[in-house]
Amino acid sequence: MLLQIPDILTADELARARQLLAQANWADGRATAGAQAAQVKNNKQLPEDSAQLPELRQLVLTALNRNPLFFAAALPLRVLPPFFNRYGDDANFYGAHVDGAMRPHSNGGYVRADISATLFLSEPDEYEGGELLVEDTFANQRVKLPAGHLVVYPSTSVHQVTPVTRGTRLASFMFIQSMVRDAHQRRMLFDMDMALLQLRQIAGETDNAVVTLTGTYHNLLRLWAES
Ligand code: NI
Repeated sequence: MLLQIPDILTADELARARQLLAQANWADGRATAGAQAAQVKNNKQLPEDSAQLPELRQLVLTALNRNPLFFAAALPLRVLPPFFNRYGDDANFYGAHVDGAMRPHSNGGYVRADISATLFLSEPDEYEGGELLVEDTFANQRVKLPAGHLVVYPSTSVHQVTPVTRGTRLASFMFIQSMVRDAHQRRMLFDMDMALLQLRQIAGETDNAVVTLTGTYHNLLRLWAES
């Protein structure tokens, strides 16, 4: 499942993020790629010692944490601190790859990447190309969103960023370990959660069927979630 979440960032947050990125020094993006991915990765990334990185990370994590749609879709257990990248000039693409499953966390241990997310930080008309192309079950999905919008997709999918042939594409990307490991179970819970939202509008919070189905949602979560 691919899900687009509009306006994760406020206009002020987006402006601040772009201001910080304009001050930053960029490094070769291959630093965080595994051996296979490094062969097809050609972009720039903020290095871990970047002075701007702590504020940028806090800004994005705060935005994710307050977004109910992100929570419903990802059921996040742990989010790896977000990374920031730039595509343009002669470092302008990331070929087909699958994101590595286990990502080392700076505080020790690992985060299992169940879900990947891209937060667009450039407007679509600021660059040519630079689409996120995700191989989905039945078709390839091409994603290019307004600045401040997020797309979440399964980390298990083969995906790429097509070459940026004009301008600059800035983005943040992150990996999420979900409380529900299985993508199908996660999808069913999300569909049920969204349907329940509609049912509450129609029938009210205390309607018997709504209460029963809400209980079923939580009981499924109890069966499937790990914490
Ligand atoms: Ni990737």
